[in-house]
Amino acid sequence: MRLVRSIGCARRAVSELQHPRVLVPTMGALHRGHVALLEKARKIARRRSGSVLVSIFINPAQFGPGEDFTRYPRTLASDLAICRAADVALVFAPSAQAMYDPHRSTGITETALSRGLCGASRPGHFPGVCTVVAKLFHILSPDAALFGEKDWQQLAIIRRMVADLDFPVEVLSAPTVREADGLAFSSRNAYLPTEERALAPGVYAALRKAAAEAPTPASAAKLARKLIGKIPGARIDYVEGVDAATLTPTQRVDRPARLAAAVYFGTTRLIDNIPFPTPKP
Ligand code: PAF
Repeated sequence: MRLVRSIGCARRAVSELQHPRVLVPTMGALHRGHVALLEKARKIARRRSGSVLVSIFINPAQFGPGEDFTRYPRTLASDLAICRAADVALVFAPSAQAMYDPHRSTGITETALSRGLCGASRPGHFPGVCTVVAKLFHILSPDAALFGEKDWQQLAIIRRMVADLDFPVEVLSAPTVREADGLAFSSRNAYLPTEERALAPGVYAALRKAAAEAPTPASAAKLARKLIGKIPGARIDYVEGVDAATLTPTQRVDRPARLAAAVYFGTTRLIDNIPFPTPKP
């Protein structure tokens, strides 16, 4: 496995890798959700003797003022061990200086899917995500890239960007991986003190109960809001029942939908979503 830090080295190293090149973009602090993405990437790459690439970059451009950029977990040594064990061919872990010119004045903004949900409370977040993902695609020239479904809105926006800007990259996804108590794996779970960690799975439980009991995505969101409101210490940012493709609130039951939530426990903001209707286990 090669570790490269500069854009020039990354371009040279990539040019020596076999196609298909499958990229898993990350901000590090790799957990079991990332491991599932790496396993899926390896299966896709191996089918045709290809290679798995990982980017590890805590992208300052996607954090707003006062958000958790400075305290975001930085665990490069263990991340590299995980990548090595997953048979990754190349890790690109640039510094912010290597990625961004201090005088840069160009970025990518998706203007429809980014409006609601996380985009409403984190206005610069998705422009930061789109810009860095576009840069990673240009630098690493992957044939395919894999994203987790926990951030459903991010996935939808990246698919839109790839279609709108004709990136020759297939965007693939993998389902959310959960702890035994239902909490979705997230690098931000590390922020939760014991008491909040014990309460956090209540959000997933509420989403599931609401999706099982309510007849439409919008009514499920209303019920989930009520249930999450009863979890001690939980502060709702949003709970919405949205069309899975357009991300707009919906009552329709004839199209795939998602029940999505962002909830604060103390200063930690957790996101989650499930399909509506939820498939029976
Ligand atoms: O989902 C993430 O970890 C990040 O938003 C991504 C896609 C790596 C861009 O920084």
